[in-house]
Amino acid sequence: MTSRLADSAYLRACRGEPGDRVPVWFQRQAGRSLPEYRAIRGPGSILDAIAQPDRSTEITLQPVRRYGVDAAILYSDIVVPVHAIGFGVDIKPGVGPVVVDPFRSASDLDRLRPLEPDTDTPYVLETVRQVVAELGDVPLIGFAGAPFTVASYLIEGGPSKNYTVTKAMMRTDPGLFGQLLDRLADMAIASVRSQVEAGASALQLFDSWAGSLHADDYRRFVQPHTRKVFDAVADLGVPRAHFGVTTGELLGVIAETGPEVIGVDWRVPIDEARRRIPRPVALQGNLDPAICFAPIPAVETEVRSILERNAGHPGFVFNLGHGVLPETDPDVLARVVEIVHAEGRADAAVASPDA
Ligand code: CP3
Repeated sequence: MTSRLADSAYLRACRGEPGDRVPVWFQRQAGRSLPEYRAIRGPGSILDAIAQPDRSTEITLQPVRRYGVDAAILYSDIVVPVHAIGFGVDIKPGVGPVVVDPFRSASDLDRLRPLEPDTDTPYVLETVRQVVAELGDVPLIGFAGAPFTVASYLIEGGPSKNYTVTKAMMRTDPGLFGQLLDRLADMAIASVRSQVEAGASALQLFDSWAGSLHADDYRRFVQPHTRKVFDAVADLGVPRAHFGVTTGELLGVIAETGPEVIGVDWRVPIDEARRRIPRPVALQGNLDPAICFAPIPAVETEVRSILERNAGHPGFVFNLGHGVLPETDPDVLARVVEIVHAEGRADAAVASPDA
């Protein structure tokens, strides 16, 4: 890693180091809100587009060029590993991941062999290498789906509102549920390790739907597996980020899994989120993606209010509280980047935790 990359605003913020600006990137910054994405995405499943490194490289770079964001996120998906080992997953446009034959019993474990990134997802690694060569001093964030969130798709068979089958399996067969999450943890570990080894300079674990659980269930059924993933990639020496929505009540138990960066959605203000986490971590968030549909002055007010709540804390990465919505006007996001870069401060003195 070059020293200018190591010193980039995003990586500094992840380490909680003061800098001259607040870094910003957007979850789902590469995607349907960009006309240049729609122009080259091609027909068919997104899984086919992901399997083409030249196309995926270009898509990953598009938002960096357009917005001047402080990090790129790999164009891939959380179900790519389970798809690659042949579990039978597709992604339906406007719907999300769907599973032909959902995970329901112990015999389904046989359908989840370990991931071998070099042979199962060589296209992901080729994309990482190409993107990193193009990005120069801009960091690339690699990622994987967290065990619980990927399991919810495999068990439910698709997107879910209430996670009824998943939550029933937790209680009727906690042993099987644990084995499933353990295998998915191993796959996430193999996947993010291979991305970092190919050149990604940070990693994010998406546990998007963990916020559907109360803290006791999270601690019992999910936390050990998420912690296993973070522990197994600690030696890579890159920032480890966690993300989920509606996790306001879980911020403390999520922090126990070990990440350096914790994503916060818009339901909990940044200063309050910091109070809920009993150790120093960097926070990432937390503009409501729906606010981007309000008139520009209202968006500006909201962005400024988040920056004010952060009060110059150096461990802060500006982002949306969830992904960019497909109908978002890219000019609004461009304005958000402008304000964060012009007005965000990352220079406040922060009391050391044991002071
Ligand atoms: O800029 C980026 O973030 C691009 C990389 C990326 C994608 N998916 C590409 C994608 C990332 C980081 C993801 C993660 C992902 N995938 C998550 C976690 C983040 C979150 O949003 O909570 C989840 C839950 C998924 C599963 C998934 N894949 C969903 C829910 C959808 C949306 C379905 C739809 O069409 O609305 C997808 C498809 C998908 N993955 C798209 C993109 C750009 C859009 C569909 C397309 O272009 O064909």
